[in-house]
Amino acid sequence: MFIPDATIKQILDKADIVAVIGEHIKLEKKGNDYKGICPFHNDSNPSLSVSPNKKVFKCFSCGETGNAITFVQKYKHVSFPEAVKIVGEKCGIDVKLGNNSRQQNFEKLYKIMQDATTYYEFYLKNSIEGKVALDYLHNRKLDDQIIKRFKIGLASKENNLLYEAMTKKEEPYLPIDLIKCGLIHEKNHYDMFRNRIIFPIDDQNGNIVGFSGRIFQESQKGEPKYINTTENDIFKKGNILYNYSYALNDIKKKNRVYIFEGFMDVIAAYRADVLNTVATMGTALTDNHIKMIKKLTSNIVLCFDGDTAGVTATKRAIQLFLKEGMNVSVMLLPEGIDPDEYLEKYGKDSLNRFLENEYISSIDYLYSLEKRKLILSDINSVENFKKNIFLYLKMFNSKYIENQIFKRMSDDLELNSKELNNDFENAVFSNDSMFEKNSKDEDIVELKSNSKSRYLKAEQMLVCMAFQKKEYCDKIARLLPFTLNLYVDKGNRDLFLSIVNYYHQNHQMIYEEFCNSIDVDEETKERLDNILRETIIGDDNFVDDLIKECTEMIFKYAKDKKLDMLRNSEGDLDIDHLRAISELKRKTIKIKDRNKE
Ligand code: CTP
Ligand code: MN
Repeated sequence: MFIPDATIKQILDKADIVAVIGEHIKLEKKGNDYKGICPFHNDSNPSLSVSPNKKVFKCFSCGETGNAITFVQKYKHVSFPEAVKIVGEKCGIDVKLGNNSRQQNFEKLYKIMQDATTYYEFYLKNSIEGKVALDYLHNRKLDDQIIKRFKIGLASKENNLLYEAMTKKEEPYLPIDLIKCGLIHEKNHYDMFRNRIIFPIDDQNGNIVGFSGRIFQESQKGEPKYINTTENDIFKKGNILYNYSYALNDIKKKNRVYIFEGFMDVIAAYRADVLNTVATMGTALTDNHIKMIKKLTSNIVLCFDGDTAGVTATKRAIQLFLKEGMNVSVMLLPEGIDPDEYLEKYGKDSLNRFLENEYISSIDYLYSLEKRKLILSDINSVENFKKNIFLYLKMFNSKYIENQIFKRMSDDLELNSKELNNDFENAVFSNDSMFEKNSKDEDIVELKSNSKSRYLKAEQMLVCMAFQKKEYCDKIARLLPFTLNLYVDKGNRDLFLSIVNYYHQNHQMIYEEFCNSIDVDEETKERLDNILRETIIGDDNFVDDLIKECTEMIFKYAKDKKLDMLRNSEGDLDIDHLRAISELKRKTIKIKDRNKE
């Protein structure tokens, strides 16, 4: 596609490069220029310089340089014409792109989602069913202003009202596009969301890309509380933080962000006049989420639930943010309630005060977590306490924090700081720390006495990955078939089998629904909960690595006839199994090679 040079020049002349870049990165004025953290390498000091006069940017560390258009192109991973269009829009110059561009394609889906939102909003306000739903919302103190601001709507209990509305209008949409958006079922074209209050979800540019639908009637008890749009081309949970596009400026202005577990908490905070908030969509934080946040601020307040899952998520998030050199605080609401419940109980002003004042630094949080477990009369408990605190200190890597904590520890343990310092200097930090999940090849060869626990860990992580995504589950089933009795732990195998069965009938994993499947008994559920508590975020490569790790270990031990040592379930490996294992090894090595390419 051809865009005249004159148009590009006109856009570059008109565009305010500081505004364009400043939309994504925090910029500070230094003399005539602006400085910020460079997004194109792992930058910790602001080394990106933006010159409004010359209309260029340059990173003095990695050398990346260009103008407003090339910045957008690189930053958003879009084509040059798409970047021209984006920057053009910002300065009122319309650039027409051809029909087959990716962006154009997405634009259509965005428009569909926008129309669906309008439809749901209308239905909430103008139907008999809507009265019941509005009662529910008003009961939860969500007034009409909030309903409008968060674009809350209602999906009818009828089978296909949305479908009818969207395909039988003057300029009808095609069913195939509605399917792409996850609005209707592929086979019968029934509406995906029925009898649910609809919360639209924006991407980072403010396009509505998905919905979360909540039950609102007594009669719906037993159904999953929320269902979300299935992952598709425009809706990727790992890239989405609820409220992000709205909160952008407030986060920058306050130079702080609150991260919640549920979007109802974002709404609660909004009601208490705290606007610099986002929420994950029921998933653990991903690297991408961290990147999105890092563009706006490096001060984080984590506000997750006080249950075990919430604590694990908090610890994990602390680690991820610290790795990026960011400051993390933790917010603990009393009585283990969430911000929404707190608001209901104590009112707006109280929630506002709490959010603004009551967070503690992450090291204080971690310290108090460990201290709660400490039993002074038990040497093992004391050593464990020390070990864990040392691990945290290593993570923080700050002399100041070390000194502060040593003081506190010496009080708590009745030891002097010097002794503690010595212990700290001499402490051996294995790779197997509670934070690092390291599955490098070299470690495997070293396996000796702790091989079994290591193996089991890999196996558990595999089950965890299988649970997260059908795609992963299919791959694992293919490469590490449960039928071959390759799993060392029978419980893991049974759980995995249930997951396979579940995905046989369902495309999307919904925890509650899975637990209600017939073959999931209490024991299996407990095992799953334990595994999920160690939430792991991985990708396709991670799954490949795990499969490789498991098969290599089985291979190695089968060859050494040491598998009995590993195995605690029934049966010996016969020659067929061995053959199958070598075959697996071959396949997994292939995967590995392919990934290297
Ligand atoms: N979630 C989900 N599916 C469920 C339950 C929860 O996707 N069946 C996600 C939702 O994104 C929700 C978040 O997990 O926002 C937190 O869940 P929860 O704490 O149970 O919801 P609340 O925010 O407390 O919602 P409510 O107050 O309406 O119960
Ligand atoms: Mn709640």
